[in-house]
Amino acid sequence: MSQLAVDPATGPATTRERVFSGIQPSGASHLGNYLGAQVNYVALQDQYDAIYGIVDLHAMTTVHDGEELRRLTRDMVLDLLAVGLDPDRCAIIRQSDFPEHSELMWIFDTVVPVSWLERNPTYKEGRAEGKENSNGLLTYPVLQAADIVIYKASRVPVGKDQAAHLELSREIVRAFNRRYGEIFPEPQAVYTDAPVVLGIDGARKMSKSAGNTIPIFAEPDEIHRLVMSMVTDPQRIKRSDPGRPEVCNVCQLHRFFGGDYLQIQDGERTARTGCVQTKQLLAERIVEFFRPMREKRARLAAEAGHVEEVLAAGAAQVRPILEATMAEVRAAVGIGRGPGTA
Ligand code: AMP
Ligand code: TRP
Repeated sequence: MSQLAVDPATGPATTRERVFSGIQPSGASHLGNYLGAQVNYVALQDQYDAIYGIVDLHAMTTVHDGEELRRLTRDMVLDLLAVGLDPDRCAIIRQSDFPEHSELMWIFDTVVPVSWLERNPTYKEGRAEGKENSNGLLTYPVLQAADIVIYKASRVPVGKDQAAHLELSREIVRAFNRRYGEIFPEPQAVYTDAPVVLGIDGARKMSKSAGNTIPIFAEPDEIHRLVMSMVTDPQRIKRSDPGRPEVCNVCQLHRFFGGDYLQIQDGERTARTGCVQTKQLLAERIVEFFRPMREKRARLAAEAGHVEEVLAAGAAQVRPILEATMAEVRAAVGIGRGPGTA
């Protein structure tokens, strides 16, 4: 039986804590997504009632072509299945299948001071980079809070770049609960041991919008090309110069792809090895590590209708949970017909 089975009349039938996380379908999954978050999505599906959302409404802040967004959403389902999410052990959903997420966002919007949102680092950075300054960008973390707590999830596997968003989610929950009663738990972030992964530029966070990613399902040649173009220690100019593994992104990534990373880092520090060699080894290891997942992804992509089946199964699992929450919320805030009215 599914772990998420619920009786719609009584709400969740299990007392296991719930996990929710969202990932934007704004481009191909990359090393930052995998090491920062997806590893934990997979790990947590056995210990918790886990729900993972492809957050297409969030991605609308950066993807402005309808056909592309739909394709990227489908691709992200395949990515999640390939990294190891199992639809029998977790629910995979498409955020836009549930207008209730947006409804709860609006309800939270009436509780959240604008100043909290203007302080949000992602919003401030976006503005500094000259991004389109839409109201969606401002209210983005409010939708994120709604995504999580509409399922009363208490654990949220995310990369460390999401710390500020999670803190804001907690503040939003506290503000709502103060006004309307203790309806929502305060969600906690669950991190992997990876830092915020830097992009191939070695300077900014690896992100789809920055165009500095190593997509985990790229063809081996492409992975090699991208890894070889990575910026290493800028002070190591000649092959004989000692390197500084602590500032070299290539050395840092070796940590996750082999038990011998201390030797590798030592090789750089003593100039025993050169950057080119260290990059080649990293590229080979990344390709090998993701090979079975890439093959699985290709198999799944060839199965017509599979993605929609997975999303339909996920939707059926989560709908009663979200409907129970929204009934409680609408009753508390005083919208809709109200409980007990025929
Ligand atoms: P996004 O692609 O922005 O929807 O992110 C999906 C998940 O990957 C979130 O949990 C992020 O925190 C995580 N993530 C994205 N980029 C990085 C990165 N460069 N380092 C670590 N985690 C990341
Ligand atoms: N903001 C997250 C990101 O950029 C994506 C996201 C949307 C999310 N809703 C969420 C993450 C809910 C965790 C929980 O990565």
